[in-house]
Amino acid sequence: MDNQFWNEQYAAREYMWKSAPNQFVEQHLTELAPGTAIDLAAGEGRNAVWLAGRGWQVRAVDFSDVGLDKGRRLAADNNVEVDFICADALTWQPDDKVGLVLLSYLQLHQADRETAVRRGASWVGPGGTFFLIAHDKTNLANGHGGPQDLDLCYDLDETAALVENAGLKIQTAEVAKRTVQTDDGERTALDTLLIGTAS
Ligand SMILES: C[S@@+](CC[C@H](N)C(=O)[O-])C[C@H]1O[C@@H](n2cnc3c(N)ncnc32)[C@H](O)[C@@H]1O
Repeated sequence: MDNQFWNEQYAAREYMWKSAPNQFVEQHLTELAPGTAIDLAAGEGRNAVWLAGRGWQVRAVDFSDVGLDKGRRLAADNNVEVDFICADALTWQPDDKVGLVLLSYLQLHQADRETAVRRGASWVGPGGTFFLIAHDKTNLANGHGGPQDLDLCYDLDETAALVENAGLKIQTAEVAKRTVQTDDGERTALDTLLIGTAS
């Protein structure tokens, strides 16, 4: 899926995933002391804007200019500053390490997915946090929604190994259940949730 695909998705509706942060981002990052953060594949900026509202200095990187424009509007509506950067997550490189790297539902095929996770984990500075939430492979058979291509989904153990190999200590590694409201009632989506920290 290239940036044209995502531009069309974002142009077609108001907010694809609402303007509130992802529930696991809110649950796990509320207590974290603010510092510098990179939201890689930030989309419409829901998580970046929430972090900025909590005092984080956030760079929100995505290759969809339509998504980022919506993020800019969301930031303005919330009176926060976010540095929105239109770039490819697989090649963009920060010139410094940060306190938090966030990957939220970045959907890539295996080789690119591994590259993105490795690179993101390598940007976490001492004492910093790597946070990943994404569609888990088990969601296809046992969960609701998300990509129906297994290769775009995450395997918990494989992803944890990548994060560990980048030198981070795994703090949380689980398949998390997310409740989704549908026209047919509540459904459960299964997400890979990984939190690693750098010493
Ligand atoms: C499912 S959306 C998630 C957006 C956001 N992280 C969130 O949770 O609301 C996936 C995002 O990844 C972005 N993306 C996919 N591949 C990318 C790449 N190679 N470089 C930059 N952004 C990419 C898309 O443009 C899209 O905004």
